[in-house]
Formats: sequence, structure tokens, C-alpha cells
Amino acid sequence: MATRKIRELGDEVLTKQCKEVTKMTLRTKVLIQDMLDTMYEALGVGLAAPQVGVLKRIVVIDVGEGPLILINPEILETSGEQTGEEGCLSVPGKSGQVTRPDYVKVKALNEDMEEIELEGTGLLARAFCHEIDHLDGKMYVDLVEGELHDVSYDEEDE
Ligand code: NI
Repeated sequence: MATRKIRELGDEVLTKQCKEVTKMTLRTKVLIQDMLDTMYEALGVGLAAPQVGVLKRIVVIDVGEGPLILINPEILETSGEQTGEEGCLSVPGKSGQVTRPDYVKVKALNEDMEEIELEGTGLLARAFCHEIDHLDGKMYVDLVEGELHDVSYDEEDE
């Protein structure tokens, strides 16, 4: 297991546009494994490559249903709306209210560079939007309605 340093808000790397992945290499496989290790160690539900300082279009997500690896993800379809608490491993100890679609369909490549389509509702739909935003240098803090606030222990336990 190898974890990488999570870049925090204010780090310029989080504002950059990431590049498409054109082929799977050993280096990229190691990156993906490290991203999963880093996300699980930090108790996050998603992590995008720029959060560990790599400007590649790769995200990992696990909302409690097992790991998802999305390479070059694109949102195909959204519907509905949900407003709820959102946080980010790059903004530790904070959260804020963000409105996102309640249903999101994405296409991406898997670790074997095969095209896949995934659908999510609720937290998974939110995670798709949040993580794909990272690949375009966008942070959820710019979408927060009202104030960003400190996460209490009670909320962390939910
Ligand atoms: Ni994030």
C-alpha cells in the first residue's frame, strides 16, 4: 500500500485542466492503486488525480459499493436535483451545501481502457459530478450555497 500526499485548496495544481489518458502504462496503474489507497486511508468517497498532483483525467470513487475507476470520464446525462452536504479531501474539516443533479450517467474507460457506462443516484451522482469537476480545475467550494462550515464529529459519523 502506498499513499500520496493530498494537495489542499490553494495549491495551484487543483485549478488546472487535466489531460486525457491515451494508453494504460505501468506508471498509470501504480497511480490508480495509490489513489485508491490514499482515498481509503483518508476515509474519502472519491479522489481525482490532480488531488495527488497528477494532471491526468482519472478518478476513483467508492460510496460503499466497491471501488470504481473512471478514466477520461464524461457526463452523458443528468436529471433531478439534490441539495446536501458536500466535502472534499482537499478541503479537510470543512463542508458546505451544494446542489447537484440527483441522477448522473457517465461514460469512461476502465483500467483495461475499455469503454464503460455507469449510472448513479444520490451520493454516487454527487461523487461523479464532484470528481469530474476536479479534472477541469473546479472545486466544490465555488458552488457552496451559504457558508463553508466546520465538520462536527457527529456529521463525520453519519
Ligand atoms: Ni474533492
